[in-house]
Amino acid sequence: MELTEAMRTVGTCRYFETTPVPDDVLHQAFDVARFGPQGGNRQPVRWIVVRDAARKQALADLYLPMWKAYLAAVGAGTVNVGALPKTVQDADHFAEHLAQVPAIVVACAEIDGLHPTDTELDRVSVVGGASIYPTVQNFCLALRDQGVGSAVTTLLCHHEPAVSELLDIPAGVLTAAHIAIGYPAKGFPRKLTRSPVEDIVAAETFGRPYFTTAAV
Ligand SMILES: Cc1cc2nc3c(=O)[nH]c(=O)nc-3n(C[C@H](O)[C@H](O)[C@H](O)COP(=O)(O)O)c2cc1C
Repeated sequence: MELTEAMRTVGTCRYFETTPVPDDVLHQAFDVARFGPQGGNRQPVRWIVVRDAARKQALADLYLPMWKAYLAAVGAGTVNVGALPKTVQDADHFAEHLAQVPAIVVACAEIDGLHPTDTELDRVSVVGGASIYPTVQNFCLALRDQGVGSAVTTLLCHHEPAVSELLDIPAGVLTAAHIAIGYPAKGFPRKLTRSPVEDIVAAETFGRPYFTTAAV
């Protein structure tokens, strides 16, 4: 499919068919995903495909209480999300049915391969993730290209020790995302909700709009 169309409609799939995703489809997605950039071309990303029902259930059992706590915090107004109520409802359905998705793909990374340059700043460090998440997005786009939906999640990263034990992930390898994948039961989104370009691009210094008229 055309790249721009894939980028605009990759979205987060919340409803999956139970039909398995064939290995050749997965192979193609991993194959093209690996061309994502990484600092120093260190290639730290490793993947685990979890299809086994008991393992998926174990991951879902870790995920659901985390999600419900997050949902309660959203309800109480202590966590701010930009999501619409319908989106939260869909995410709740997703959480309740996570064990039934055809596969959960765990994106891992060798910590020694990350080389974060922002660990000494007085803020959260993000640079390490820049060697992982472009590859993750490539993976989702490559699945989208083949008609497969995906949902990138990070809530389970909180339980990394338990996930590492469950999946035999060695010391020195972190978990960066858990991606539910499968054929979408409700199709792909036609239009994702995002801020307009005019609101997010600045000219020369922060906050001075670069584009002043809405482009189509
Ligand atoms: C870094 C990251 C972490 C996310 N973590 C979760 C998660 O733990 N659980 C979940 O249901 N969705 C998660 N999402 C999905 C977002 O909620 C979703 O991308 C957002 O609502 C926008 O959805 P859309 O792309 O379909 O418009 C995550 C997405 C990203 C990029």
